[in-house]
Amino acid sequence: MSRSRVIAGNWKMHKTPSEARAFARELLAQLGGAARPEGVEVVLCPSFPALTAVHAEIERSGLGAWVSLGAQDLYWERQGAFTGEVSGPMLADAGCRYVIVGHSERRHLLGESDEWVARKLRAALESGLTPILCVGETLEERRQGLTETVVSRQLETALEGLAAGAVAGVVVAYEPVWAIGTGENATGEEAHRVIDGVIRSRVRARFGEEAAGRLRIQYGGSVNPANIGEFMAYPSIDGALVGGASLKVDSFTAIVAAGR
Ligand code: G3H
Repeated sequence: MSRSRVIAGNWKMHKTPSEARAFARELLAQLGGAARPEGVEVVLCPSFPALTAVHAEIERSGLGAWVSLGAQDLYWERQGAFTGEVSGPMLADAGCRYVIVGHSERRHLLGESDEWVARKLRAALESGLTPILCVGETLEERRQGLTETVVSRQLETALEGLAAGAVAGVVVAYEPVWAIGTGENATGEEAHRVIDGVIRSRVRARFGEEAAGRLRIQYGGSVNPANIGEFMAYPSIDGALVGGASLKVDSFTAIVAAGR
């Protein structure tokens, strides 16, 4: 089954709204100036205050058919007395098509549980947003041989009870925590083993062949222009979730170009 690839840039807590606007303008000019990489979708995930500015730049660029806006998180309630939180309908109205849920920085720095992530994922789907569900083991868990256990638990809790059709529309990002922002990436083979041998095969067992075949699964963790080719060489890996290297126009465009 042929799947489009998703190259997403997670800008994390970088760039003020005006910096994000200027950066997006330059990035989109460079992306638009080259041939569109066939079968590749690009998602830009700025901080909440920069969403509107980046959305305006995507509209202005005319690249909206293959470049989308994404948020980095959401809350599961639609509205109410939840100070500081942002809901799915708010994100959709701001122009988002995607939203990251369960990023390891939120799981580990802010204590988000698997159950919270599951609620957020449902809220995203109910708001018509495509969730990018992050899963991945810590270094300690990896050393203890718990990669499969941890990734399966995170995945299955998040997808529990969903219809196969909904699961097929989710994007999963396998991000080993030890590879995030460390410069130490998993090898293509290691990523492939978890993506194909754990994530896709668990989805196949629980939701069937069609959902598993349609599900897009990215790799994330110290992806850069020099190593993206190693991941894209595996047909099981449907793109990348990029942190640090998405903050520079040249490195992100090179990653996008290699994504086809
Ligand atoms: O969301 C992106 C990931 O956390 C990867 O970040 O590319 O800086 O390692 P990184």
